[in-house]
Amino acid sequence: MKPLKIAVIGAGSSYTPEIIEELTRRREKLPVTHITLMDIDPHRLEIMEGFCRRFAAHLGSDLQIEATLDRQEALSGARFVLTQIRVGGNAQRILDEKIPLKYGVIGQETTGPGGMFKALRTIPPMVEIAQDVEKYCPQAWIINYANPTGMIAEAVHRRSKVTIAGLCAGGYFPRDHAVQALGVSPESVQYNYFGLNHLNFGYNLQVDGISLTDEQFDQVLAAATWGSVAAELLHNLRLVPSPYLRYYFHREQAVADAAAKPLTRGEQVQQIEQEVFQAYADPTQTTKPEALKQRGGGGYSEIALNVMEAAYTNQPQWIVINAPNGGAVAGLPEEAVLEVPCMVNASGIFPLRQANIPKSVWGLVAAVKNYEQLTVEAALSGNRDTALLALLAHPLVGDYHKAEAILAEMLEANRQFLPQFYP
Ligand code: G6P
Repeated sequence: MKPLKIAVIGAGSSYTPEIIEELTRRREKLPVTHITLMDIDPHRLEIMEGFCRRFAAHLGSDLQIEATLDRQEALSGARFVLTQIRVGGNAQRILDEKIPLKYGVIGQETTGPGGMFKALRTIPPMVEIAQDVEKYCPQAWIINYANPTGMIAEAVHRRSKVTIAGLCAGGYFPRDHAVQALGVSPESVQYNYFGLNHLNFGYNLQVDGISLTDEQFDQVLAAATWGSVAAELLHNLRLVPSPYLRYYFHREQAVADAAAKPLTRGEQVQQIEQEVFQAYADPTQTTKPEALKQRGGGGYSEIALNVMEAAYTNQPQWIVINAPNGGAVAGLPEEAVLEVPCMVNASGIFPLRQANIPKSVWGLVAAVKNYEQLTVEAALSGNRDTALLALLAHPLVGDYHKAEAILAEMLEANRQFLPQFYP
Protein backbone atom coordinates (compact mmCIF):
# COMPACT_ATOMS: atom_id res chain seq x y z
CA MET A 1 0.00 0.00 0.00
CA LYS A 2 1.21 3.52 -0.78
CA PRO A 3 2.35 5.23 2.42
CA LEU A 4 0.06 7.97 3.71
CA LYS A 5 1.33 9.70 6.80
CA ILE A 6 -0.23 11.94 9.43
CA ALA A 7 1.77 13.92 11.99
CA VAL A 8 0.21 14.89 15.31
CA ILE A 9 1.87 17.89 16.98
CA GLY A 10 0.94 18.05 20.65
CA ALA A 11 0.14 14.35 20.67
CA GLY A 12 0.34 14.26 24.47
CA SER A 13 -3.22 15.66 24.41
CA SER A 14 -5.74 13.30 25.96
CA TYR A 15 -7.86 13.56 22.79
CA THR A 16 -5.27 11.77 20.57
CA PRO A 17 -6.82 8.28 20.79
CA GLU A 18 -10.00 9.62 19.16
CA ILE A 19 -8.01 10.14 15.99
CA ILE A 20 -6.77 6.55 16.00
CA GLU A 21 -10.36 5.39 16.41
CA GLU A 22 -11.75 7.55 13.59
CA LEU A 23 -8.86 6.62 11.27
CA THR A 24 -9.58 2.96 11.85
CA ARG A 25 -13.27 3.44 11.17
CA ARG A 26 -12.54 5.19 7.87
CA ARG A 27 -9.53 3.27 6.60
CA GLU A 28 -11.29 2.29 3.37
CA LYS A 29 -11.74 5.88 2.24
CA LEU A 30 -8.69 7.39 3.87
CA PRO A 31 -6.01 4.68 3.92
CA VAL A 32 -3.60 6.27 6.39
CA THR A 33 -0.64 3.93 6.93
CA HIS A 34 1.57 5.90 9.34
CA ILE A 35 0.94 8.26 12.22
CA THR A 36 3.75 10.04 14.01
CA LEU A 37 3.04 11.39 17.46
CA MET A 38 5.13 14.41 18.44
CA ASP A 39 5.17 16.29 21.73
CA ILE A 40 7.62 18.36 23.76
CA ASP A 41 6.71 16.46 26.95
CA PRO A 42 8.51 13.07 26.82
CA HIS A 43 6.50 11.62 29.70
CA ARG A 44 3.06 12.27 28.21
CA LEU A 45 4.31 11.24 24.79
CA GLU A 46 5.56 7.88 26.03
CA ILE A 47 2.28 7.16 27.79
CA MET A 48 0.29 8.16 24.70
CA GLU A 49 2.45 6.08 22.36
CA GLY A 50 2.02 2.99 24.53
CA PHE A 51 -1.73 3.45 24.85
CA CYS A 52 -2.28 4.27 21.16
CA ARG A 53 -0.46 1.08 20.18
CA ARG A 54 -2.61 -1.03 22.50
CA PHE A 55 -5.76 0.80 21.42
CA ALA A 56 -4.98 0.34 17.71
CA ALA A 57 -4.33 -3.38 18.27
CA HIS A 58 -7.62 -3.62 20.16
CA LEU A 59 -9.40 -1.97 17.21
CA GLY A 60 -7.75 -4.35 14.76
CA SER A 61 -5.86 -1.53 13.04
CA ASP A 62 -2.50 -2.04 11.36
CA LEU A 63 -1.62 1.65 11.51
CA GLN A 64 2.12 2.16 12.06
CA ILE A 65 2.45 4.32 15.16
CA GLU A 66 5.67 6.16 15.87
CA ALA A 67 6.63 8.78 18.45
CA THR A 68 9.26 11.49 18.42
CA LEU A 69 10.30 14.65 20.26
CA ASP A 70 11.64 16.03 16.99
CA ARG A 71 9.28 18.19 14.95
CA GLN A 72 11.20 17.92 11.70
CA GLU A 73 11.16 14.13 11.92
CA ALA A 74 7.42 14.17 12.63
CA LEU A 75 6.66 16.48 9.71
CA SER A 76 8.84 14.83 7.07
CA GLY A 77 6.63 13.10 4.52
CA ALA A 78 3.37 14.00 6.26
CA ARG A 79 0.25 14.65 4.14
CA PHE A 80 -1.73 16.07 7.06
CA VAL A 81 -0.47 17.75 10.22
CA LEU A 82 -2.83 17.78 13.19
CA THR A 83 -2.00 20.49 15.71
CA GLN A 84 -3.35 20.35 19.25
CA ILE A 85 -0.90 22.21 21.45
CA ARG A 86 -1.61 23.87 24.82
CA VAL A 87 1.19 26.30 25.60
CA GLY A 88 1.69 26.50 29.38
CA GLY A 89 -0.72 23.61 29.94
CA ASN A 90 -3.72 23.76 32.23
CA ALA A 91 -1.78 25.78 34.81
CA GLN A 92 -1.94 28.82 32.48
CA ARG A 93 -5.55 28.08 31.60
CA ILE A 94 -6.45 28.35 35.28
CA LEU A 95 -4.81 31.80 35.47
CA ASP A 96 -6.71 32.83 32.31
CA GLU A 97 -9.88 31.85 34.13
CA LYS A 98 -9.08 33.42 37.50
CA ILE A 99 -7.38 36.75 36.83
CA PRO A 100 -10.15 38.46 34.76
CA LEU A 101 -12.74 37.49 37.38
CA LYS A 102 -10.95 39.70 39.91
CA TYR A 103 -11.93 42.62 37.67
CA GLY A 104 -15.50 41.49 37.17
CA VAL A 105 -14.81 40.14 33.67
CA ILE A 106 -15.43 36.56 32.56
CA GLY A 107 -12.40 34.27 32.83
CA GLN A 108 -12.63 31.58 30.18
CA GLU A 109 -10.43 29.43 27.96
CA THR A 110 -11.42 31.13 24.69
CA THR A 111 -13.67 34.08 25.54
CA GLY A 112 -12.51 37.47 26.87
CA PRO A 113 -9.03 38.16 28.29
CA GLY A 114 -8.41 34.43 28.92
CA GLY A 115 -8.88 33.64 25.25
CA MET A 116 -6.74 36.61 24.34
CA PHE A 117 -3.82 35.37 26.43
CA LYS A 118 -4.21 31.86 25.09
CA ALA A 119 -3.88 33.43 21.64
CA LEU A 120 -0.81 35.43 22.65
CA ARG A 121 0.87 32.25 23.95
CA THR A 122 -0.17 29.95 21.12
CA ILE A 123 0.16 32.06 17.96
CA PRO A 124 3.98 32.34 17.80
CA PRO A 125 4.61 28.56 18.08
CA MET A 126 1.77 27.85 15.64
CA VAL A 127 3.32 30.20 13.10
CA GLU A 128 6.65 28.41 13.61
CA ILE A 129 4.96 25.05 13.04
CA ALA A 130 3.35 26.39 9.84
CA GLN A 131 6.71 27.63 8.62
CA ASP A 132 8.22 24.20 9.35
CA VAL A 133 5.39 22.58 7.41
CA GLU A 134 6.32 24.79 4.44
CA LYS A 135 9.90 23.59 4.80
CA TYR A 136 9.54 19.89 5.52
CA CYS A 137 6.17 18.86 4.02
CA PRO A 138 4.99 21.73 1.81
CA GLN A 139 2.06 19.78 0.35
CA ALA A 140 0.60 19.05 3.78
CA TRP A 141 -2.50 20.67 5.22
CA ILE A 142 -2.63 21.74 8.85
CA ILE A 143 -5.71 20.61 10.69
CA ASN A 144 -5.79 22.70 13.83
CA TYR A 145 -7.74 22.04 17.02
CA ALA A 146 -5.64 24.25 19.31
CA ASN A 147 -7.64 27.12 20.79
CA PRO A 148 -8.45 29.84 19.98
CA THR A 149 -8.75 28.25 16.57
CA GLY A 150 -10.03 31.32 14.66
CA MET A 151 -7.24 33.66 15.76
CA ILE A 152 -4.62 30.96 15.18
CA ALA A 153 -5.89 30.41 11.64
CA GLU A 154 -5.81 34.14 10.96
CA ALA A 155 -2.22 34.47 12.22
CA VAL A 156 -1.06 31.48 10.18
CA HIS A 157 -2.73 32.90 7.06
CA ARG A 158 -0.92 36.20 7.62
CA ARG A 159 2.49 34.59 8.00
CA SER A 160 2.52 31.52 5.76
CA LYS A 161 1.06 30.04 2.60
CA VAL A 162 0.21 26.70 4.11
CA THR A 163 -3.38 25.43 3.93
CA ILE A 164 -4.85 25.44 7.43
CA ALA A 165 -8.28 24.26 8.53
CA GLY A 166 -9.17 25.85 11.87
CA LEU A 167 -11.66 23.44 13.35
CA CYS A 168 -14.27 23.34 16.06
CA ALA A 169 -16.95 20.75 16.74
CA GLY A 170 -19.48 23.61 17.01
CA GLY A 171 -19.98 23.85 13.24
CA TYR A 172 -22.08 20.70 13.37
CA PHE A 173 -24.10 21.72 16.43
CA PRO A 174 -27.15 23.02 14.49
CA ARG A 175 -27.20 19.73 12.54
CA ASP A 176 -26.81 17.62 15.66
CA HIS A 177 -29.52 19.51 17.51
CA ALA A 178 -31.92 19.16 14.57
CA VAL A 179 -31.19 15.43 14.44
CA GLN A 180 -31.80 15.12 18.16
CA ALA A 181 -34.92 17.28 18.25
CA LEU A 182 -36.61 16.13 15.04
CA GLY A 183 -35.36 12.58 14.62
CA VAL A 184 -34.13 13.27 11.06
CA SER A 185 -30.92 12.00 9.45
CA PRO A 186 -27.78 14.18 9.64
CA GLU A 187 -27.52 14.21 5.82
CA SER A 188 -31.00 15.74 5.47
CA VAL A 189 -30.20 18.87 7.51
CA GLN A 190 -28.97 22.09 5.86
CA TYR A 191 -28.39 25.55 7.28
CA ASN A 192 -26.60 28.85 6.94
CA TYR A 193 -24.00 29.64 9.55
CA PHE A 194 -21.97 32.70 10.33
CA GLY A 195 -19.75 34.21 12.97
CA LEU A 196 -16.49 33.47 14.70
CA ASN A 197 -15.28 30.54 16.67
CA HIS A 198 -17.43 30.36 19.82
CA LEU A 199 -19.45 33.36 18.59
CA ASN A 200 -21.56 31.90 15.84
CA PHE A 201 -25.13 31.37 14.71
CA GLY A 202 -26.92 28.77 12.64
CA TYR A 203 -29.96 30.02 10.70
CA ASN A 204 -32.28 29.17 7.78
CA LEU A 205 -32.51 25.58 8.98
CA GLN A 206 -34.00 23.15 6.48
CA VAL A 207 -34.67 19.45 6.33
CA ASP A 208 -34.51 17.98 2.82
CA GLY A 209 -34.69 21.52 1.43
CA ILE A 210 -37.83 22.48 3.33
CA SER A 211 -37.65 25.23 5.96
CA LEU A 212 -38.52 24.26 9.52
CA THR A 213 -41.88 25.34 10.90
CA ASP A 214 -41.83 27.69 13.92
CA GLU A 215 -42.72 24.76 16.10
CA GLN A 216 -39.88 22.61 14.76
CA PHE A 217 -37.46 25.49 15.15
CA ASP A 218 -38.45 25.88 18.80
CA GLN A 219 -37.79 22.18 19.30
CA VAL A 220 -34.31 22.57 17.84
CA LEU A 221 -33.64 25.59 20.05
CA ALA A 222 -34.67 23.67 23.13
CA ALA A 223 -32.05 21.05 22.28
CA ALA A 224 -29.49 23.60 21.23
CA THR A 225 -28.24 25.68 24.08
CA TRP A 226 -28.56 23.56 27.19
CA GLY A 227 -30.33 26.45 28.85
CA SER A 228 -27.27 28.62 28.38
CA VAL A 229 -29.24 31.42 26.68
CA ALA A 230 -32.74 32.51 27.83
CA ALA A 231 -35.51 30.74 25.90
CA GLU A 232 -37.45 33.99 25.27
CA LEU A 233 -34.35 35.60 23.77
CA LEU A 234 -33.80 32.63 21.46
CA HIS A 235 -37.39 32.78 20.40
CA ASN A 236 -36.96 36.44 19.52
CA LEU A 237 -33.61 35.97 17.73
CA ARG A 238 -34.73 32.97 15.65
CA LEU A 239 -31.09 31.84 15.46
CA VAL A 240 -29.25 28.84 16.85
CA PRO A 241 -26.37 30.41 18.80
CA SER A 242 -23.22 28.80 20.08
CA PRO A 243 -23.63 28.11 23.81
CA TYR A 244 -20.72 30.52 24.37
CA LEU A 245 -23.14 33.37 23.57
CA ARG A 246 -24.12 33.09 27.21
CA TYR A 247 -20.99 35.08 28.05
CA TYR A 248 -22.33 38.00 25.98
CA PHE A 249 -26.10 37.80 26.37
CA HIS A 250 -26.00 37.01 30.09
CA ARG A 251 -22.73 38.72 30.93
CA GLU A 252 -23.41 39.58 34.56
CA GLN A 253 -24.95 36.26 35.45
CA ALA A 254 -22.08 34.41 33.77
CA VAL A 255 -19.50 36.35 35.80
CA ALA A 256 -21.44 35.79 39.03
CA ASP A 257 -21.81 32.07 38.32
CA ALA A 258 -18.11 31.68 37.53
CA ALA A 259 -17.10 33.56 40.68
CA ALA A 260 -19.33 31.33 42.82
CA LYS A 261 -17.83 28.06 41.59
CA PRO A 262 -15.35 26.36 43.95
CA LEU A 263 -13.20 25.19 41.03
CA THR A 264 -12.62 26.67 37.60
CA ARG A 265 -13.09 24.45 34.54
CA GLY A 266 -9.29 24.27 34.17
CA GLU A 267 -8.96 22.97 37.73
CA GLN A 268 -11.61 20.34 37.01
CA VAL A 269 -9.82 19.38 33.81
CA GLN A 270 -6.57 18.94 35.75
CA GLN A 271 -8.31 16.37 37.96
CA ILE A 272 -9.95 14.62 35.00
CA GLU A 273 -6.62 14.49 33.18
CA GLN A 274 -4.97 12.81 36.16
CA GLU A 275 -7.51 10.03 36.03
CA VAL A 276 -7.35 9.77 32.23
CA PHE A 277 -3.56 9.58 32.14
CA GLN A 278 -3.42 7.05 34.95
CA ALA A 279 -5.64 4.85 32.80
CA TYR A 280 -3.60 5.49 29.63
CA ALA A 281 -0.42 4.51 31.51
CA ASP A 282 -1.89 1.20 32.68
CA PRO A 283 -0.41 -1.53 30.44
CA THR A 284 -3.65 -3.52 30.65
CA GLN A 285 -5.80 -0.60 29.42
CA THR A 286 -6.82 -1.11 25.79
CA THR A 287 -9.97 1.04 25.50
CA LYS A 288 -10.71 4.74 25.97
CA PRO A 289 -11.06 5.51 29.70
CA GLU A 290 -14.53 6.43 30.98
CA ALA A 291 -13.22 9.69 32.47
CA LEU A 292 -12.43 10.97 28.97
CA LYS A 293 -16.16 11.55 28.44
CA GLN A 294 -15.94 14.37 30.98
CA ARG A 295 -13.79 16.42 28.62
CA GLY A 296 -15.64 18.93 26.43
CA GLY A 297 -13.69 18.63 23.20
CA GLY A 298 -14.90 15.25 21.96
CA GLY A 299 -16.15 15.03 18.40
CA TYR A 300 -13.29 16.87 16.74
CA SER A 301 -12.04 13.75 15.04
CA GLU A 302 -15.20 13.53 12.91
CA ILE A 303 -14.60 16.98 11.42
CA ALA A 304 -10.86 16.49 11.11
CA LEU A 305 -11.35 13.29 9.18
CA ASN A 306 -14.03 14.88 6.99
CA VAL A 307 -11.55 17.56 5.97
CA MET A 308 -8.79 15.02 5.31
CA GLU A 309 -11.13 12.74 3.38
CA ALA A 310 -12.37 15.58 1.15
CA ALA A 311 -8.80 16.68 0.48
CA TYR A 312 -7.55 13.16 -0.19
CA THR A 313 -10.44 11.81 -2.29
CA ASN A 314 -11.32 15.14 -3.95
CA GLN A 315 -14.97 14.43 -3.20
CA PRO A 316 -16.25 17.83 -2.09
CA GLN A 317 -17.75 18.22 1.39
CA TRP A 318 -19.63 21.03 3.16
CA ILE A 319 -17.75 21.70 6.37
CA VAL A 320 -17.78 24.64 8.79
CA ILE A 321 -14.20 25.92 9.06
CA ASN A 322 -12.37 28.98 10.36
CA ALA A 323 -11.20 30.40 7.06
CA PRO A 324 -10.54 33.85 5.53
CA ASN A 325 -13.84 35.53 4.67
CA GLY A 326 -12.99 36.41 1.06
CA GLY A 327 -16.46 37.87 0.50
CA ALA A 328 -18.51 35.01 1.97
CA VAL A 329 -19.96 37.40 4.55
CA ALA A 330 -20.71 40.95 3.45
CA GLY A 331 -19.63 43.78 5.73
CA LEU A 332 -16.65 42.05 7.35
CA PRO A 333 -13.03 42.41 6.19
CA GLU A 334 -12.03 40.15 3.29
CA GLU A 335 -8.96 38.80 5.10
CA ALA A 336 -10.71 38.27 8.44
CA VAL A 337 -10.95 34.63 9.44
CA LEU A 338 -14.58 33.73 10.13
CA GLU A 339 -16.23 30.47 11.11
CA VAL A 340 -18.26 29.74 8.00
CA PRO A 341 -19.41 26.84 5.85
CA CYS A 342 -16.79 25.95 3.26
CA MET A 343 -16.58 23.64 0.30
CA VAL A 344 -13.53 21.46 0.75
CA ASN A 345 -11.88 19.41 -1.97
CA ALA A 346 -8.35 18.52 -3.06
CA SER A 347 -7.77 22.07 -4.30
CA GLY A 348 -8.45 23.70 -0.97
CA ILE A 349 -10.97 25.25 1.39
CA PHE A 350 -13.50 27.63 -0.18
CA PRO A 351 -15.84 29.68 2.03
CA LEU A 352 -19.41 29.73 0.74
CA ARG A 353 -21.39 32.94 0.50
CA GLN A 354 -23.86 33.27 3.36
CA ALA A 355 -26.91 35.32 2.47
CA ASN A 356 -29.19 37.28 4.84
CA ILE A 357 -26.66 37.81 7.63
CA PRO A 358 -28.76 38.19 10.80
CA LYS A 359 -29.34 41.88 11.56
CA SER A 360 -29.54 41.33 15.30
CA VAL A 361 -25.99 40.08 15.82
CA TRP A 362 -23.65 41.16 13.03
CA GLY A 363 -22.46 44.15 15.07
CA LEU A 364 -21.42 41.93 17.97
CA VAL A 365 -19.56 39.65 15.59
CA ALA A 366 -17.83 42.63 13.98
CA ALA A 367 -16.78 44.04 17.37
CA VAL A 368 -15.30 40.74 18.50
CA LYS A 369 -13.59 40.30 15.13
CA ASN A 370 -12.06 43.75 15.63
CA TYR A 371 -10.66 42.60 19.01
CA GLU A 372 -9.42 39.35 17.42
CA GLN A 373 -7.56 41.12 14.63
CA LEU A 374 -5.84 43.41 17.12
CA THR A 375 -4.94 40.39 19.25
CA VAL A 376 -3.40 38.60 16.27
CA GLU A 377 -1.38 41.71 15.53
CA ALA A 378 -0.21 41.94 19.16
CA ALA A 379 0.66 38.23 19.24
CA LEU A 380 2.83 38.59 16.14
CA SER A 381 4.48 41.89 17.10
CA GLY A 382 4.70 41.67 20.89
CA ASN A 383 3.49 45.27 21.00
CA ARG A 384 1.98 46.08 24.39
CA ASP A 385 0.03 49.10 23.10
CA THR A 386 -1.67 46.95 20.48
CA ALA A 387 -2.51 44.37 23.14
CA LEU A 388 -4.10 47.11 25.23
CA LEU A 389 -6.20 48.31 22.29
CA ALA A 390 -7.26 44.72 21.66
CA LEU A 391 -8.45 44.27 25.21
CA LEU A 392 -10.21 47.64 25.15
CA ALA A 393 -11.98 46.65 21.91
CA HIS A 394 -13.36 43.49 23.50
CA PRO A 395 -17.06 44.07 24.24
CA LEU A 396 -16.71 42.19 27.55
CA VAL A 397 -13.95 44.56 28.74
CA GLY A 398 -14.59 47.91 27.04
CA ASP A 399 -13.09 50.13 29.76
CA TYR A 400 -9.63 51.65 29.58
CA HIS A 401 -8.55 51.41 33.25
CA LYS A 402 -9.92 47.91 33.54
CA ALA A 403 -8.16 46.85 30.34
CA GLU A 404 -4.89 48.35 31.57
CA ALA A 405 -5.09 46.55 34.93
CA ILE A 406 -6.03 43.18 33.43
CA LEU A 407 -3.31 43.46 30.82
CA ALA A 408 -0.60 44.31 33.36
CA GLU A 409 -1.48 41.41 35.63
CA MET A 410 -1.94 38.87 32.85
CA LEU A 411 1.25 39.82 31.03
CA GLU A 412 3.17 39.31 34.24
CA ALA A 413 1.47 35.95 34.90
CA ASN A 414 2.37 34.79 31.37
CA ARG A 415 5.86 36.27 31.20
CA GLN A 416 7.68 32.98 30.58
CA PHE A 417 5.34 32.06 27.70
CA LEU A 418 5.43 35.42 25.91
CA PRO A 419 8.95 35.90 24.56
CA GLN A 420 7.63 38.37 21.98
CA PHE A 421 6.64 40.75 24.82
CA TYR A 422 9.76 40.09 26.93
CA PRO A 423 12.64 39.78 24.47
C1 G6P B 1 -15.62 22.58 23.51
C2 G6P B 1 -15.03 23.73 22.77
C3 G6P B 1 -13.54 23.62 22.70
C4 G6P B 1 -12.99 23.47 24.08
C5 G6P B 1 -13.62 22.34 24.83
C6 G6P B 1 -13.21 22.44 26.28
O1 G6P B 1 -15.50 21.44 22.76
O2 G6P B 1 -15.56 23.84 21.48
O3 G6P B 1 -13.00 24.73 22.08
O4 G6P B 1 -11.59 23.23 24.01
O5 G6P B 1 -15.01 22.42 24.77
O6 G6P B 1 -13.29 21.23 26.90
P1 G6P B 1 -12.59 21.07 28.32
O7 G6P B 1 -12.88 19.68 28.73
O8 G6P B 1 -11.12 21.35 28.11
O9 G6P B 1 -13.22 22.11 29.20
